[in-house]
Amino acid sequence: MLRVGVLASGGGSNFEALVSDLRTPPLLATVVSLTCNVESAPVIERAHRLGVKCHVLSHRHAASREAFDTQLVDFLRTDNVNLVVLAGYMRLVSPVLLEAFPRAVINIHPSLLPDFKGLHAVRQALAAKVTTSGCTVHFVDAGMDTGQTIAQASVAVAPSDTEDSLASKIHQLEHQLLPRVVRTLAAERGVHADLQVSRT
Ligand code: GAR
Repeated sequence: MLRVGVLASGGGSNFEALVSDLRTPPLLATVVSLTCNVESAPVIERAHRLGVKCHVLSHRHAASREAFDTQLVDFLRTDNVNLVVLAGYMRLVSPVLLEAFPRAVINIHPSLLPDFKGLHAVRQALAAKVTTSGCTVHFVDAGMDTGQTIAQASVAVAPSDTEDSLASKIHQLEHQLLPRVVRTLAAERGVHADLQVSRT
């Protein structure tokens, strides 16, 4: 069984979707813990409600990005995690985390990468007047939203879409795509095989 550690900073709808999906058969992977870097984030309450172990580790007390990630790695190793999922985790990770979990850190991002990296991806897509947007799950590397794409899902952008309405459509896609990718990784390899890029 693949042991998943989730890192999140905010609302946690992707965290909850992943936990719930992985609790339905076939049981291939399980979320063993959440680590949240924002003390007031709603995702913490979701973890309590779902009965998932929760670490709250504010980056504000860390001496450096590397010192913070060293603590993160300690938590993840204690929980025997073998796949790290960034689900609305709004911090760049350092080589400390990436070297501890080689090719075993994935992220979900609300755009069709390589378009619209970084913050406010939905806003960026609307400003660019695209007619199609979506989400991407990718391996994390040292760059911002630059790692190898694993899978994408797309949705039409309506002329009437606002940032909220498009974000909501993309969230629906994310809640399907992220569990699907984690299940595929768990089924096909444990953590280390490459997947072909797929787009739905
Ligand atoms: C998601 O849309 C996720 O793709 C995005 O944050 C949102 C978190 O929602 N992540 C990024 O923008 C990372 N660059 P959630 O807290 O409800 O899961």
